Amino acid sequence: MPDQKLDPALTQNAMIGAAKRRVDGPLKVTGGARYAADHQPEGMVHAYGVYSSIAHGRITAIDAQAALAMPGVIDVIHHGNAAKLYRVPPGSGSDPAVSAMIDEHRPPFEDDRVYYAGQFVAVVVAQTFEQARAAAYAVKVDYAAEAAVADLAQALAKGEPKAAKGDHKRGDPAGAYDKAAKRVDATYTTPVETHNPMEMHATVAQWRGDHLHVYESTQGVVNHRNVLARMFGLAPDQVDVEAPFIGSGFGSKLWLWPHSAAACLAARHVGKPVQLVVPRMQMFTTTGHRPETKQHLRLATDDQGRLLSLRHESINSTSFVDEYVESCGGVSKSLYACDNVLVTHHTAQVHRGTPTSMRAPGAAPGLFALECAMDEMAEAVGIDPLAFRRLNHAETDGSQDLPWSSNHLLDAYDQAAERFGWDRRTPAPGSMREGEERIGWGVAACNWEAFRMATEARASLRDDGRVEIRAGVQDIGTGTYTVVAQTVAALTGLPLARIDVKLGDSSFPPGPVSGGSWATASVLPAVAEAVRAATEQLKAVATARGGPFEGSKPDELRLEDGQLTDGKRRVPFEQILREQKVAAAEAKSRSEPDTPKDKAFRSFGVHFVEVRWDPGISRLRVTRVVSAIDAGRVINAVTARNQVEGAIVMALGMAMFEATEYDARSALPVNNNYAEYVVPVHADQPDIDVILLDYPDYALNELGARGIGEIGTTGLAAAVANAVYHATGKRIRDLPITLEKLMDELPRAAA
Ligand code: MOS
Repeated sequence: MPDQKLDPALTQNAMIGAAKRRVDGPLKVTGGARYAADHQPEGMVHAYGVYSSIAHGRITAIDAQAALAMPGVIDVIHHGNAAKLYRVPPGSGSDPAVSAMIDEHRPPFEDDRVYYAGQFVAVVVAQTFEQARAAAYAVKVDYAAEAAVADLAQALAKGEPKAAKGDHKRGDPAGAYDKAAKRVDATYTTPVETHNPMEMHATVAQWRGDHLHVYESTQGVVNHRNVLARMFGLAPDQVDVEAPFIGSGFGSKLWLWPHSAAACLAARHVGKPVQLVVPRMQMFTTTGHRPETKQHLRLATDDQGRLLSLRHESINSTSFVDEYVESCGGVSKSLYACDNVLVTHHTAQVHRGTPTSMRAPGAAPGLFALECAMDEMAEAVGIDPLAFRRLNHAETDGSQDLPWSSNHLLDAYDQAAERFGWDRRTPAPGSMREGEERIGWGVAACNWEAFRMATEARASLRDDGRVEIRAGVQDIGTGTYTVVAQTVAALTGLPLARIDVKLGDSSFPPGPVSGGSWATASVLPAVAEAVRAATEQLKAVATARGGPFEGSKPDELRLEDGQLTDGKRRVPFEQILREQKVAAAEAKSRSEPDTPKDKAFRSFGVHFVEVRWDPGISRLRVTRVVSAIDAGRVINAVTARNQVEGAIVMALGMAMFEATEYDARSALPVNNNYAEYVVPVHADQPDIDVILLDYPDYALNELGARGIGEIGTTGLAAAVANAVYHATGKRIRDLPITLEKLMDELPRAAA
């Protein structure tokens, strides 16, 4: 029995799941979509940051004389002359109307202390961007530098890491390990990865009296508003934040970073609207990153390969101003059936900005370690790595002792393995060859949580024949505009062209940040409820005195193809409204995350990867990826597939290219630009085949959708590493898998 009341207009409608192009696509490809920095209010001036050139110490003097004398410069703001900002307290709860979350709690210009390179030490305001930038380089900042902790290894050499939240223990993992027949004990590391969305972080701030209006590239307009209100000591209704379009964020735009507060502060300071764009170089310092991790995995099985013990103990780097925990062991608690499990997390402080969520936080580095260790364990037992995973499939969530709401991982294994041709794999490393190339085939599971957040939405059936939706969530490039429009189309029978979806404005009914892959699962139920409630109002209008269905009961009527009908007569809804002189039938609704407590919600999947290694010329390429994803019902076959494909490409970066490097002496980032921070390009793209399983999960919501933005990022790096092992005989336990790690010895199998 499904847990939610189901509406056949949604469950039995071809519009849900249809392969519709993005409704905002034409705006995006014609330049009609305006991003944060495209907004230039009357009288706007430009701010440019002065960023710390040391990673740790104090500012002893700031000399702005030369900068102030430069053309167009209006002022230079720093800790000596900036108005004080308030800190945002923790524990604001999950109600989107008041929730105020932030990762870096220290506001800019709070004092003379420097905790990381790239920290805002001043901001220059000038008439033009070029003038502000030139003057920023002329601000003279003297520092008293202190020794900096440059990386996790240095931090661990200085002392023990600190225990962090997210522990889990069941059974006797150490005892079971010691008694087990087969064991694996391995340590894996992942480097800092920096989010590199195409669109820069940017803020356009304008004060009108004591009202603050902001255009921001943010994944959460309502949260951003609430945080700004807290920082400036205002009521939430004194602040508006708009983000109609976002050029991706990947987590870096979930929470407010210092530039946004600095821009608002500067705008009030100079009494003019101010635009501040964070340069790419400083997107490597002051807008978050995925922290470094070091993960110790210990697995043990019986002779048959059944998991007896699983320990996943991780440490991640955090800043000196905040504790950010990368929950690497989160998935290890429940992905496999095992009675004896230990998961721990620790942090260690380095002189970098505060880390933040990056697409599939915790799970992306965590499943690299777990799924590599599973491959090593399968080899130790002598079973095929896919067969080993099937053998240890978790029929229930062992960490909570709950049944899954819906789990089709075994089907994902079947379908993707068949599509990939896994049964043609020969197990010995280096045993599959073509010409000069060694072919490696690897497999890894992928996994992500399934959340739902409280969300409000307003629906208006208008007398011009259009339906308008307003919701304070945002489309971060994933297709939220489109799936909302599809939901409205399914319920009203209107074509997408007659549906106006308005998102990305904090003055709309409050919704959550677009993160955690929960936007679709959260906003669509709210939209559906609002449309149904607005339809009820339409029926009330139609059945009232003088209405076309006067005397009928509202529940004898239904909305079909945009027309209200009692089965005999059909009247377009806009005609009813016009004749009754009503502008719109409209309603607001709130959907609560009232999911059953007796079920565990996650999404599941698997990646199969082929790599080709040419040892003669040291060329490594990922040539083929087949993935099967079980993320509930697919709302849009184009945008859902696009999310998984994009996640796979992003994870190829994690597997083979991405690492933010820091100078071991100064703790300054070294490759803080698009030239030297290497990401996959078109030439690196493999043939990608995504299978969307499309099993509705009606326990989570009436759409049956669980969310699909992050899961594809998980497991892929492990599948690549496992394929590299199969091709070369070399286990690479430290990401990224760069060529030099494969070149230092020739693979055994090649001899
Ligand atoms: Mo995602 S890392 O929750 O934007």
